[in-house]
Amino acid sequence: MVCAVATATVTRHEKTRHQKAVRSSVVLKAVMAVSGLIMVGYLLAHMAGNLHVFGGAEEFNTYAADLRRIGEGLIPYGLVLWIARIVLLLSVVGHIYSAIVLSRRSHRATGKGKRYQSKSARRGVQRSYASFTMRWGGLTIFLFVLFHLMHLTWKWINPGGGYTPYDRVVLSFQNWWMVALYAVALILVCLHIRHGVWSALTTLGLNTSVRARRTLNVVAVAVAGILLIGFLLPPFSILLGLVK
Ligand code: HEM
Repeated sequence: MVCAVATATVTRHEKTRHQKAVRSSVVLKAVMAVSGLIMVGYLLAHMAGNLHVFGGAEEFNTYAADLRRIGEGLIPYGLVLWIARIVLLLSVVGHIYSAIVLSRRSHRATGKGKRYQSKSARRGVQRSYASFTMRWGGLTIFLFVLFHLMHLTWKWINPGGGYTPYDRVVLSFQNWWMVALYAVALILVCLHIRHGVWSALTTLGLNTSVRARRTLNVVAVAVAGILLIGFLLPPFSILLGLVK
């Protein structure tokens, strides 16, 4: 009798723990999805902003300065930019934290290296380059962003010289190795985004039918493709001498 009560208590306890873990995994997936989409929104705006380089030095430098002047007269100088930076930083931290916790749980539950089973895939497991490289891709992007900040924001790495944002961008991308480095990093960023957008929209409940799945795939490829082309245009145009 005592034994039966104890077993029931243990089972109930384990069930509650399991339910809590499932619930928290769902929350973490939602955090990953929302923070990921915020970062993609930032990247779309950043990519569009970079295209001002085609308008010349004055337009590009004015654009960089204007970012700090949003809401001038109503709110303190640079406030909107700082709010955007804080939201971005919280998104990065939330995204990385959720990725690590979910990845550990997945390893514990399925065994290291195991993949989703899928009848539609030839080898019986889910397989696409982008989906396989999410963890390493995420780490590479983190390293790239650190390098990028050292290059253009903190100005610690200065391969071509220059002081204004326009000069620094144009003088840097006159070096082929800088363009190559950015091109490789951007391809990895966009592969991550291609799978990430699909995954985030699925987490948010939009993958409800075969048709919806096809639409999500088109949206994910389009977002990643637009970002890749938009980000690659300035470095290659500068290298080819189209922007001086
Ligand atoms: C060829 C592609 C890119 C170019 C030419 C470029 C250009 C720039 C420039 C000029 C700045 C400095 C703005 C300033 O301080 O006035 C900057 C900042 C930044 N970029 Fe990029 N960027 C590129 C790609 C990317 C990518 C792919 C990411 C993210 C994965 C990224 C993330 C950032 C971040 C987080 C900042 C700091 C924003 C801030 O706090 O002010 N950039 N970028």
